[in-house]
Amino acid sequence: MADETPPLRNLWYMVGLSSSLKPKGLRREMLAGEPVLLARTADGRAFALRDICPHRAAPLSGGRIVGSEVECPYHGWRFKTDGVCSAIPSVVAEQDFAVERIRVNHYPLREQDGLLWVYLAADKDAEPISEPPKMPFGSTDGRSIPRLVESQIFPASLDHAVVGLMDPAHGPFVHRAWWWRSEASIHAKAKHHTPSMRGFTMVSHKPSANSSLYKILGGDRTTEIRFELPSIRYERIRAGKNEVLGLTAVTPLDDENTRVTQVFYWNMPWAALVRPFFRPFVRAFIGQDRKIVEMQKEGLKFASPQMLIQDADVPALWYYRLKKAWAESVTSGTPFTNPVQERTLHWRS
Ligand code: FES
Ligand SMILES: [Fe+2]
Repeated sequence: MADETPPLRNLWYMVGLSSSLKPKGLRREMLAGEPVLLARTADGRAFALRDICPHRAAPLSGGRIVGSEVECPYHGWRFKTDGVCSAIPSVVAEQDFAVERIRVNHYPLREQDGLLWVYLAADKDAEPISEPPKMPFGSTDGRSIPRLVESQIFPASLDHAVVGLMDPAHGPFVHRAWWWRSEASIHAKAKHHTPSMRGFTMVSHKPSANSSLYKILGGDRTTEIRFELPSIRYERIRAGKNEVLGLTAVTPLDDENTRVTQVFYWNMPWAALVRPFFRPFVRAFIGQDRKIVEMQKEGLKFASPQMLIQDADVPALWYYRLKKAWAESVTSGTPFTNPVQERTLHWRS
């Protein structure tokens, strides 16, 4: 089931971990239905190009990196990191052929806090209008390091994956487990929300007493959860000096497949010790979200109801409104106005 509106333009999408791309490494990633070459030069610079050779369509990702260029596997045409062709081996010296007039589409790429971000531009030659989000824990070199990562592909469109993750009412059912929630733990909640840059924030509050896994942090815990377009969720948990940031980056691969990557950053050295214990829970938790959209997909083959109710589905409603407002601002070239109104939402979960 494709979404009614395609993935938004003029925004950054998280396409992978820095550590997954070694010098001279290259691979194909799908992003919003487009084949993207992700590659790294011999001296370590990551770049992204359309993964289709303009000569006769061979995937550049099937070729190799030579110095700071990619070489097509078919006839050896070479392209620089900005997509400009630099060499065509079959051209003889007497042929006056301006190879630099040949170009393959280039995507802006940023590498930050151990993550690779690719910008989907509405106008492919325009410069990005923003920068990807920065994570909060500066180490000595000013970068945050991903401490724990789990990535799974959901057989769902972007919208169903995003809405499934932000939906507050599914917890006690989808995530019913001794280490997280039970049906008996359901209780009424009131959470204050404010608009934030390109999304909304559930302002700092005490996390649910029924989320057992939070207890490991000890102390007086507070949580702040923020959603930002296109599809990024941050959960920042503080307990005294201890801080954990959970980033959920949802990346549309194509109309029917979406990658969900959960990345944790933290500032507690001792947490490295509990990491092996923590990992299976993270995997199981995201697996629960994946399984429910797999089940939902069966239903969506026959009908696609969207009966969004107050207040538990208000975050989903906001998501659709934000998406619409952003898409309109991109098409019309006018500034984006956040449609979310400050509000306390009430639900039971
Ligand atoms: S298809 Fe790439 S060089 Fe011919
Ligand atoms: Fe969930």
